[in-house]
Amino acid sequence: TYVIGEPCVDVTDRSCIEECPVDCIYEGARALYIHPDECVDCGACEPVCPVEAIYYEDDLPEAWRPHLADNEAFFAQTLPGMEGPLGSPGGAAKLGRLGIDAPLVASLPPREE
Ligand code: F3S
Ligand code: F3S
Repeated sequence: TYVIGEPCVDVTDRSCIEECPVDCIYEGARALYIHPDECVDCGACEPVCPVEAIYYEDDLPEAWRPHLADNEAFFAQTLPGMEGPLGSPGGAAKLGRLGIDAPLVASLPPREE
């Protein structure tokens, strides 16, 4: 799978969404998350991110390795009003902005620019 790392946090440029042929890039509150099972490893999203937040899992810079598990953890969460975990919704567009973040992203201090 491809993974969205720390540079996306509080930036959320969203250019990546338009490139994904399988619509597997989901929008949280402070970052976006690639569904590890739905991503077909096409790599189309990677070059369009202006802050170079997207990497193939094996190429993730060491500092952002924890985001591999964090992207996965995003989908294990249960959203308010949902019966069970998000799981594999099979398409991000119909869900829109989900308003929550995975544990690691949620724990990061606000980015100061
Ligand atoms: Fe984030 Fe880059 Fe996409 S900043 S929303 S990963 S284009
Ligand atoms: Fe989509 Fe990027 Fe995977 S464009 S299929 S999330 S490599």
